[in-house]
Amino acid sequence: MTASPVLSIRNLSLEFPLWGGALHALEDVTIEIAAGEIVGVVGESGCGKSVTAMAAMRLLPERAYRVTQGAIVMLGQDMLTAGEADLRALRGSGVAMIFQEPLTALNPTRRIGDLMVEVIRAHQPIGRSEAREKAIGLLDSMRIADAQAVMRRYPFELSGGMRQRIVIALAFANDPRLVIADEPTTALDVTVQRQVLTLLQARARDVGAAVLLITHDLGVVSEYADSVYVMYAGKVVESGPTDAVLTTPRHPYTRALLQAGPEAVAPKSPLAAIPGGLPDLREIIPGCRYAGRCGLATDICRGAAPPQSQAAAPGHTLSCWHAEGMSR
Ligand SMILES: Nc1ncnc2c1ncn2[C@@H]1O[C@H](COP(=O)(O)OP(=O)(O)OP(=O)(O)O)[C@@H](O)[C@H]1O
Ligand SMILES: [Mg+2]
Repeated sequence: MTASPVLSIRNLSLEFPLWGGALHALEDVTIEIAAGEIVGVVGESGCGKSVTAMAAMRLLPERAYRVTQGAIVMLGQDMLTAGEADLRALRGSGVAMIFQEPLTALNPTRRIGDLMVEVIRAHQPIGRSEAREKAIGLLDSMRIADAQAVMRRYPFELSGGMRQRIVIALAFANDPRLVIADEPTTALDVTVQRQVLTLLQARARDVGAAVLLITHDLGVVSEYADSVYVMYAGKVVESGPTDAVLTTPRHPYTRALLQAGPEAVAPKSPLAAIPGGLPDLREIIPGCRYAGRCGLATDICRGAAPPQSQAAAPGHTLSCWHAEGMSR
């Protein structure tokens, strides 16, 4: 990593105050995204993937949470102290966010074309017809055939995959340097998922944008991400270049995720493929957060949080008391 990162989350701990206590949603999370890099964040439901992204974008309800340690710097902006004007400027141009359900991003009462023209003109001083041209160009870039006709449609007239392609086209409307995509294709069927992700990846590569790709699917990570952070119960347990982490996974949780397959850890999945569940995040957990489900857990795992260590490949790190044993 040479240039300064587009997003740097350092040692972030965040909690949601509750009556008589707090839910410790993130603990000591460090995630770094270099310019143009596609970074996967993966983990089961409730591990803190969305909270991380929302905190980075300052989209969590202000009075509902507390940052107890750490820093978030996005495109040179300190996100923990940024004022409203700073945030608006950043969200308007430098960074865009894509959510799972495209219908929430597309106003159902507006035609696609009108909506796109509005979004484009909100941040660029250009006239309607020029904005329309640009909108058509954006739709073309997402391989939407007959963009002119699609511009006249309402969101409900289009398929889920088509809607998400439009959302992605819009995310790139104002030349972002970072796109945060939170399970952008989880609501779509598998073949459409791959088409949409391939388009997202190609678009990001074309314009040199970095992508934070949140997913529960390690298959998606292996296909699309340059590097990966594996989260468990609010902590990053393993991270590094995708190839290194997925071909030589060292943390027992990463290994379990790889064995479980994507459906098993999907949100609201009925399949409990990794036996057991997340620890109660309202408790202070002195040891490794995965100890309760880990076949290798010993007394030390239950007693103290594991230190971070380096695996063989550069940049491959993990937090496990049994890191040495796991290399074999
Ligand atoms: N506003 C909030 N108030 C209290 N707790 C919250 C709030 N938002 C999230 N949480 C909690 O923080 C934890 C992490 O949630 P998060 O949404 O980040 O999980 P996730 O990894 O995105 O899961 P999924 O795969 O289901 O989307 C969960 O225990 C969740 O209940
Ligand atoms: Mg989520």
